[in-house]
Amino acid sequence: MQIFLDTADVAAIKKFAAWGVVDGVTTNPSLVAKEGVDFETRVKEICQVISGPVSAEVVSTTAAEMIAEGRKYAKWASNVYVKLPMTPEGLAACKVLSAEKVPINVTLVFTPAQAVLAAKAGATLVSPFVGRLDDIGQDGMALVADIVNIFANYDISTKVLAASIRHPEHVLEALRIGADIATMPPEVLEKLPHHPLTTSGLEKFLSDWKKTQK
Ligand code: E4P
Repeated sequence: MQIFLDTADVAAIKKFAAWGVVDGVTTNPSLVAKEGVDFETRVKEICQVISGPVSAEVVSTTAAEMIAEGRKYAKWASNVYVKLPMTPEGLAACKVLSAEKVPINVTLVFTPAQAVLAAKAGATLVSPFVGRLDDIGQDGMALVADIVNIFANYDISTKVLAASIRHPEHVLEALRIGADIATMPPEVLEKLPHHPLTTSGLEKFLSDWKKTQK
């Protein structure tokens, strides 16, 4: 499973890229707004740090405008993935842009049927939002599992990107289910390498070693 960072914080992206574990980045308008930076500049900056897919989301709502935005974003760097919302207009934009070989990430997916429509419209990635479904008392990871199974039934090549990941357990579940990608905030990735027994084990090794030194 690939690991993507869900952030527009370039310092965080650089930090985790140095671990050698970041395969791509997803951004959304809220994440970019949080950074208070120019969108184009920031996307280009991220694309220089990460050679894998970097999702940049359109902010228009009609297919014609989304297509224009998508074409513009696609020129910023060869690894830009245009993120389109799961709406009828988004599907129409997906059809046109994917036919032009622009890789598309269809976002805000909350049902398996939406995921199938996105795939049929030519999406390279679909993004089911796990945490937001959990927030309203539904089982977000069950949606990811459904999509993974349905795509396997029909040999659909669109990749399943588990999004809206809130904690390490979500990452583990996505791995077990066989999601192609999980995108997570830096705070979640930060937690993954740690275990109290790793910490105490290392402390013991180092203190025992110290005793051997004069
Ligand atoms: C995915 O690409 C989205 O940016 C993201 O995962 C949304 O997560 P949230 O529900 O934590 O805002």
